[in-house]
Amino acid sequence: MNNGLLKGKKGIIFGALNEKSIAWQVALKAHHEGARLVLTNSPVAVRMGSISELAALTSSKLVVADATSMVDIDRLVSESLQIFGGRFDFVLHSIGMSPNVRKDIPYENTSYENMMKTYDISALSFHRILQTCYKYDAINEWGSVVALTYVAAQRTLAGYNDMGDAKALLESIARSFGYIYGRDRKVRINTISQSPTPTTAGSGVHGIESLLDFSERMSPLGNATAAECADYCVTLFSDLTRKVTMQNLYHDGGFSSMGMSLKAIEQYNKSFKECDEK
Ligand SMILES: NC(=O)c1ccc[n+]([C@@H]2O[C@H](COP(=O)([O-])OP(=O)(O)OC[C@H]3O[C@@H](n4cnc5c(N)ncnc54)[C@H](O)[C@@H]3O)[C@@H](O)[C@H]2O)c1
Repeated sequence: MNNGLLKGKKGIIFGALNEKSIAWQVALKAHHEGARLVLTNSPVAVRMGSISELAALTSSKLVVADATSMVDIDRLVSESLQIFGGRFDFVLHSIGMSPNVRKDIPYENTSYENMMKTYDISALSFHRILQTCYKYDAINEWGSVVALTYVAAQRTLAGYNDMGDAKALLESIARSFGYIYGRDRKVRINTISQSPTPTTAGSGVHGIESLLDFSERMSPLGNATAAECADYCVTLFSDLTRKVTMQNLYHDGGFSSMGMSLKAIEQYNKSFKECDEK
């Protein structure tokens, strides 16, 4: 169903690698709701992934940019202003990578060089993008910026490693810049805290299969899919949410508010019975 929620709006979408990517789903949905898009990803992702296919599907321009390079982000924002013929209305930050997670280096024996890369790619890139958009006054009044995050910013989840710290920083940047951008230009900035999702980045997390299963069982509504996350992003880019800013918004089927579920208690008791019988 097309509700025309983004009719006449323009936006930049970071982070579509392949069709499993959350950003891929957001691009499809935003296009469907009437938005014009610029898609962007790093040079290696453009080479290895299938973003050109998405650009064709959504009649979007593709601008290659490494989110850790100030030069690239500057060029991306200026080119986007030219492509759109003026300011745009929304930005999606859907970028995450930890060399420590990728190489299975445990948190208690971290490589600090890798850790700095994790923060740079996954969190500081958000500041870099906001700072550049602010400098060029590139986002229309009542525009909307969304970054994707995970509950590991608030709670420790084994295996999420330094990405938990990166997400905490990302969410803090949303609040700090949200104040400045809201005050000066009426632009809103939020983070969406998404359920574990089987994407390329998601699959790199140690024990992801168990995590997906655990949160699926623990959430009263079950895990949220990438396509459902795209629906939520569209509402945040639309004019229906103009006074929502500086928030970390959970999109996780209720997981973040759960302590113990009935099913989990039963399973817990059962495991003790099995132990007692031995
Ligand atoms: N998959 C999950 O379980 C899950 C849960 C909550 C939040 N998230 C977040 O959602 C976002 C999107 O991840 P995804 O799950 O769709 O996985 P994904 O692997 O499809 O997307 C991650 C993207 O980050 C991009 N990226 C990495 N380094 C970059 C750089 N230097 N410059 C520009 N782009 C770069 C990759 O190319 C890729 O497109 C991430 O922020 C991730 O942390 C994912």
